[in-house]
Amino acid sequence: MNSIEIVSMGRCVPQRILTNDDLSKMVDTNDEWIVTRTGIHQRHIVDEGMTNADIATQAARDALDRASVDPNTLAAIIVATFTPDMFVPTVSATVHDRLGLNPATLALDLNGACCGFIYAMRTAQGLLALNPDKPILVVASEAVSSVLDFTDRSTCVLFGDGAAAAVVRSSDTPSWFVAGTRGRTDAISCPAHYAGDKPGIGMKGQEVFRFACTSIERSIRDLLKQSGLALGDIEHVVCHQANGRIISHVIKHLGADPAQFFMDVGEYGNTSAASIPLALADMDYQGLLHRGDRVLMTGFGAGLCEGGMLLTW
Ligand code: UT7
Repeated sequence: MNSIEIVSMGRCVPQRILTNDDLSKMVDTNDEWIVTRTGIHQRHIVDEGMTNADIATQAARDALDRASVDPNTLAAIIVATFTPDMFVPTVSATVHDRLGLNPATLALDLNGACCGFIYAMRTAQGLLALNPDKPILVVASEAVSSVLDFTDRSTCVLFGDGAAAAVVRSSDTPSWFVAGTRGRTDAISCPAHYAGDKPGIGMKGQEVFRFACTSIERSIRDLLKQSGLALGDIEHVVCHQANGRIISHVIKHLGADPAQFFMDVGEYGNTSAASIPLALADMDYQGLLHRGDRVLMTGFGAGLCEGGMLLTW
């Protein structure tokens, strides 16, 4: 069976922090509203002049440093992002160049919105089936602050910037995926030409909230069905970190153990494609992940897209 495993994680979080109090000086909002409705306390934001490719490169380097693989053997670097610095060159081409990767290493960007990491891992699994001996570098990197309208309180308080990366390779231990798109394209949008006075991200918050709750549960149930496992067999569940209330709702509805569900949305806000691997990297650095642990991840976002994967650490 063609399967995928993570060899190492890396991350890069910009140092600059924007607290809820900082935002309350910019728009009509307050810490109490943001924390109660979302669980978010702060978010990290790229400094002026710092690009998506900068944080993507650092996360990629971090993951490669922690892996016992030769970067020259990489078959591909895939960067999941919906906030590239440019249409071309792609973020992946820039990271490829900065890391001095082998010219034979394929570099491609993938826009899977907040499911970007899941979709990139699914793509990596397909590439590994073609060439099982060569590892792949999967990066998820977002500079969401570059497309936020900081006069719109309904969106600007929700998001943050960050990048994370995984070196992956083929494995004998099974892994399972679900992925789909449900054709509600007006629920979350972000124009391609966002610079200047055009609006940034727009979102029908309550509709997305409802979708998120049912979508996460659907992904969890589908993955458990495919694998023949029960939720109690899973050591860690990592949901896309958009809103702590969504995750709490899912835990309650499934009657799950809250200790299984990792949450760091309070520190980072919603970092879109980067949120799941950023959580994984933090869990790894904190020593929460042990070899053999089963990790179930679910994403949802613009499209509306949804997806999940179940891997053995
Ligand atoms: O990765 C993308 C996935 N996106 C998501 O997961 C988002 C899912 N949706 C949500 O997380 C929630 O719907 C939000 C956090 C976006 C909004 O929470 P809500 O409980 O659905 O609030 P609401 O949109 O119904 O707004 C309630 C009130 C409104 O005022 P009125 O009309 O009741 O007077 C808003 O104008 O809260 C107001 N409001 C705010 N007040 C203070 C909206 N944003 C803010 C704010 N500060 N930042």
